[in-house]
Amino acid sequence: MNSFGRIFRIQIYGESHGPAVGLILDGVPAGLSLQLEDFAGDLERRKPGKQGTTTRVESDLPELVSGIYLGRTTGAPLHIQFKNQNIRSEDYSAFLDQDRPGHADFTARIKYGGQHDPRGGGHFSGRLTLALVAAGVVAKKILPELQFAAVLTEAGGLQDIPRALELAEADGDSIGGVVECRVEGIPAGLGEPFFDSLESVISHLAFSIPAIKGIEFGSGFQSVRMKGSEHNDAIMDSSGQTMTNHAGGINGGISNGNPLLFRLAVKPPSSTPQTQTTYSKQSGQMEPLKITGRHDLCLALRVPVVAEAIAAIAIADLALIRRTQNI
Ligand SMILES: Cc1cc2nc3c(=O)[nH]c(=O)nc-3n(C[C@H](O)[C@H](O)[C@H](O)COP(=O)(O)O)c2cc1C
Repeated sequence: MNSFGRIFRIQIYGESHGPAVGLILDGVPAGLSLQLEDFAGDLERRKPGKQGTTTRVESDLPELVSGIYLGRTTGAPLHIQFKNQNIRSEDYSAFLDQDRPGHADFTARIKYGGQHDPRGGGHFSGRLTLALVAAGVVAKKILPELQFAAVLTEAGGLQDIPRALELAEADGDSIGGVVECRVEGIPAGLGEPFFDSLESVISHLAFSIPAIKGIEFGSGFQSVRMKGSEHNDAIMDSSGQTMTNHAGGINGGISNGNPLLFRLAVKPPSSTPQTQTTYSKQSGQMEPLKITGRHDLCLALRVPVVAEAIAAIAIADLALIRRTQNI
């Protein structure tokens, strides 16, 4: 579905080349100070236009349609909208005959019986992450004592990101990357055992970001090569602070008061400049497909702020659930 959350509920809508994308947030506490300027920093970090990203640059100016009065949230649903202005749908006409390998063209067509909007990836576009980032801004406001910091730690298999971009440009092929997100100041006790564990909620949201193919917490997949004595995080004091943080700040699905740490595997954009060979409905055979138009060569460059946003959305919801438990 396009909705998520128990108390802090997010619903996202829109298509890449439709009139607008946006979100409706329910469960936002009343009285939260919220100005248009609050969105500027995080929206700017998601914006393309830099090396390795698409040349489709939109103004991304949020319109606060409802749920705000005199600069404060009212407690009613908060509706935030972003108009789409820089659209070139003709770039996508070739994909009506050939579904792009790796993109959602084929699966969306099958699922919706061909009624979906194919322009610019439609509802499956990375543009919808604008709504996630906007929700993240509001979630961060609910959690003022937390610090979120996500970075791209490698791209195209290299830690030297500028070099990776140079090589990708020279090769004329798209590349993936790893985004690491750290959240400091998270209190112990957030998360519900089993189905709404902190890992589960973050992972659920992480896979709502298009092109995410993996997630690990703390030492993640490295932990399979460690002994229990190496992996265990020794507790140093009554606050639960640990010597190491192999658990990534979570035990039993519940935050343990240490920094939350997770990494996302971001795939290379499927719209590579390379010529690919794939099925043509017209000829009934595999034919060459050259994807033109405006695409990210390394979309992972734009994911760090989205990773922070989904972490903030997850933590805000779990923190609001905890407030209802009177523990
Ligand atoms: C910020 C962002 C930008 C993206 N830009 C592109 C792009 O320019 N070209 C492309 O083919 N995919 C792009 N994607 C990825 C596609 O949206 C995604 O691969 C597609 O919807 C299929 O989903 P899946 O990769 O999760 O299977 C982007 C994703 C994000 C998060």
